[in-house]
Amino acid sequence: MLNIALPKGRLGEQVYGMFAAAGFPCPSILEENRRLIFVNEAQGLRYFWVKPSDVAVYVERGAADVGVAGKDILLEYAPDVYELLDLKVGRCRMAVAAPAEFRDDHRRKLRVATKFDRIAGGHYASLGRDIDIIHLNGSIELAPLLGLSDVIVDIVETGTTLRENGLKVVTEILPISARLITNKASYEFCRGEIENLRHGLWLQTEEKP
Ligand code: PRP
Repeated sequence: MLNIALPKGRLGEQVYGMFAAAGFPCPSILEENRRLIFVNEAQGLRYFWVKPSDVAVYVERGAADVGVAGKDILLEYAPDVYELLDLKVGRCRMAVAAPAEFRDDHRRKLRVATKFDRIAGGHYASLGRDIDIIHLNGSIELAPLLGLSDVIVDIVETGTTLRENGLKVVTEILPISARLITNKASYEFCRGEIENLRHGLWLQTEEKP
């Protein structure tokens, strides 16, 4: 049985379409219900819907053999997994954003609100800029509006959340997309099947620029 952890939500549904087209289908996953585990006995496949930020935990610990996680999560948590393929979906950017009137005052520590402490820390360390990280779990855009932080480091997809809250991108840190990852031991034991999966998915990414 190959255990596959997919991120619950719109991205997961798109990614499942790619897995099915790659020859790894599990039609019951498309039924309208709240189940989290779906099995294709005939092909020896078991899919799980996992909270996107948890996929790498399932894969790292071997509860799933393969999974799909955002590059943001892989950089932030550095799980001990192999990254096999850029699926070229779920594309967005990690960026620094701030109110339009923001001017960096280098005499003071910069207050940075983020869910991504390691990415934010690494970015400012590379600039030699002293910062104070304020870790938040969501609605990061609120922080500078309420004076909790000077800037945010967060994911920007369409830019709508920033725009509607009067914030602007200051610096783009890196592009993000969904990646196929595998548990290291699973990759040794099921290399043939996992490589078939990688190849089937790769053929589809080749159609994307
Ligand atoms: C993400 C991100 C931004 C928003 C960006 O939030 O943290 O808030 O999406 O998307 P946009 O550029 O298309 O507007 P998410 O929906 O994951 O919620 P949360 O971070 O507030 O939990």
